[in-house]
Amino acid sequence: MPNLSYIDGNYYDYYDSKIHINDRGYHFGDAVYEVILYNQGVFYDFDDHINRLFRSLHSIDIQFSISKKTIKLIVKNLIRLNKISFGSVYIQVSRGIADRNHTFNNLNIKPILTIITSKKHNNINNDIIGVKAITVRDNRWARPDIKTTQLLPNVLAKTKANKQGAYESIFIDDEGYVTEGSSSNIWIINKDNEIITRSIDGKILSGITRKTIAKFSKLNDLTVIENKFSKDEMLNAKEVFLTSASSFVTPITEIDNVKINEGVVGEMSIKLKTLYFKNFENL
Ligand code: PDD
Repeated sequence: MPNLSYIDGNYYDYYDSKIHINDRGYHFGDAVYEVILYNQGVFYDFDDHINRLFRSLHSIDIQFSISKKTIKLIVKNLIRLNKISFGSVYIQVSRGIADRNHTFNNLNIKPILTIITSKKHNNINNDIIGVKAITVRDNRWARPDIKTTQLLPNVLAKTKANKQGAYESIFIDDEGYVTEGSSSNIWIINKDNEIITRSIDGKILSGITRKTIAKFSKLNDLTVIENKFSKDEMLNAKEVFLTSASSFVTPITEIDNVKINEGVVGEMSIKLKTLYFKNFENL
């Protein structure tokens, strides 16, 4: 099966897909990225993801001249060449290649666009399984709202979870409130069936799946509240779930060894996951 990648203007086979040693993404995590879900001809929220990519580029002052339309063409090409029917697209833009030096002031370098696709097993119609999570202190930098590749705290947090047999780590801020997962947004459902997720207050990534789930919920007369909630509220919630482009809507049924909803996947989580895929099917 072909596995081609796009690097700075060309398509390469997997083993030839190489980045220069002086790429600032490699040295400093001086790069931004997006992950987009693809399912049989449909890119989920493509424009929202690309718009966020451009916001991230702007936030860290990367002067990027490739258009959104061109990115879409390349992505479509790769999906076709790699014969993907279900999977995801990873798009990264690094500031470019230069001798290692912290500053990028007056550097005349060209940003490097790279795009990778990955095939996934399509388990949309399988039973919806709940996962375990742990909580960890949120020790990330003060701009988690920018989607940069500088992800070491997230990498360490997720690995800690996985080593304990859990799927995700949930970051808790210094005041005891939930911020988000290491690679997802976190939601709770309270006893009144209100769906709560932290507001876009600069302490989380403005998740695209989060935005879509909020929209679909409201369209289906469900109450969505954007407000921060504490770790205790989460542990006592009726249901907890996470959202991301790679995990869609995934119910969390145990956190720090405390069972949520007696360890059973809740009705609302199932409803929202079903709603998520149904709405895109109807596009
Ligand atoms: N991560 N918060 C963080 C820290 C994330 O890394 C992600 C996604 C999200 C959810 O955002 P979205 O719904 O737009 O995917 C929230 C991607 C999937 C990743 O890093 O692989």
